[in-house]
Amino acid sequence: MAANDAALEALLVNVTGQIARVFCAGTKTGLVVPGASRAGIEAVLSSAVEPGDRVLVGAFGHFGELLCTLASRHGAVVERLDADWGIPVDARELAAAIRASRPKLVAVVHADTSTGIVQPLETIGQACNESGALFVVDAVLSLGGCELRVDDWGIDAAVGGMQKCLGGPPGLALLAVSERLLATVRARRTPPRSAYLDLHRISRQPAAAASTSMLFAAHAALGMIEAEGLQARWARHQVAGRAVAAGLQAMGLQLFGDRDHAAPMITLVRVPDGISEPGVREQLLAEHGVEIMAAFGPLRGKVWRIGCMGVNARLTSVLHVLGALEAVLTTQGWQVRRGAGVDAARSASLDSEATAAVDPNRPA
Ligand SMILES: Cc1ncc(COP(=O)(O)O)c(C=O)c1O
Repeated sequence: MAANDAALEALLVNVTGQIARVFCAGTKTGLVVPGASRAGIEAVLSSAVEPGDRVLVGAFGHFGELLCTLASRHGAVVERLDADWGIPVDARELAAAIRASRPKLVAVVHADTSTGIVQPLETIGQACNESGALFVVDAVLSLGGCELRVDDWGIDAAVGGMQKCLGGPPGLALLAVSERLLATVRARRTPPRSAYLDLHRISRQPAAAASTSMLFAAHAALGMIEAEGLQARWARHQVAGRAVAAGLQAMGLQLFGDRDHAAPMITLVRVPDGISEPGVREQLLAEHGVEIMAAFGPLRGKVWRIGCMGVNARLTSVLHVLGALEAVLTTQGWQVRRGAGVDAARSASLDSEATAAVDPNRPA
C-alpha cells in the first residue's frame, strides 16, 4: 500500500497517539525509529549522552549489558549497579546511588528477556526526578505484556519493540520521550555521533524518519492492543504466564529466578540433569513445531526460556507447548505423569483468570 504525504502524516499522528496511550505516556512525545528495537535505545542514549557524561545502569541480565555497551560506545562514563541473574536490582539501593552520585542519566531494563525478571521502576523514577537525572527504560519485552506506566513512574524515555508482546513484525522501535529529554538533546554542545539516530532530527522530521510499511504494521499491532484493552492485555499475559509456570512445576521441573518478580511473558525453567538442552529444543521444533529458546551467558545450557507473548499468551498455546514438552521429555527418560502439565496449567489459568493482579480501578 502506498501512502502520499498527507496520508503518511495522518498515519504518523495516529501511531504516535497510540504510542502515548499504550505506554501510559500522555505527557510524552511518541516517536518511531526504523530498525531493530535497539536502534530506538541507541537513539535515546546516543542523543542524550555527550562524551564524559556519567550514566548509571542497573543491570540484571543480558539487556542491561546492552545498555552499558551502547552508553559507553557513545562516550559515557558508565557506572553500574548489578544484581545476580534471576533477581531484579535492589530499587532502593539504586535510588540511593542515584541521589548520592547524581548521574546525568539512569538506564534500566524493565523486563529482561534473558532472565525473565521484571524490575520495579517507580522508586528509581522518583530518585531520578528528585536528583535531575534522566530516566531511560528498555521496555522492549514489557510493552503490551505487563503494567508499564511511563508518566506515573517518572520515565523520560521508554523504548518498545514490535516483535514481543505486540505480536508484530520486527523492524520499528517505538518511543515515548519527555520534553526534558528532548530539551537535553537540543542543548548538546556537540552533535551526536550518529546522524541517523539523532533524536533531534527524528523529533523534528518524524515523517522523514518513518518507514511507511512498518508504520502500517505498528498501527495494526497497537490498534489490536487498544481494541482488547490495555488492562485486559496485561491480565491475559499474566494468566498465561501463571499457567506456564504451574504446568512446568507439575511436570517436576524447577523454575529459574525470583518468582515474586517473574515476567509473565517469558518463563525460564532449569534443564534437568541428564537431559540434553539443545536436544529437547530440536526435538520440540522438529516433531511438534514448537520453538523454545536457549539461554544467554551464564545460563546457557542450564535453562530453557519459554516465551508466551502477544497472540500466544493464551491457554491454547500454553497447553500445546506443555503437552509437546511432556512428550519430548518422556522420550528422553524424564519421569512425568502423563497430562500433569496441561492439567495444572488449565487449573491455574481458570483460577488466575479471576484474580489477575491488575488493579481494575486504575485507568490504563
Ligand atoms: C529486553 C530486550 N531489550 C532489547 C532487545 C533488543 O531488541 P532487538 O533485537 O529488536 O534490537 C531485546 C530483544 O530480544 C529484549 O528482549
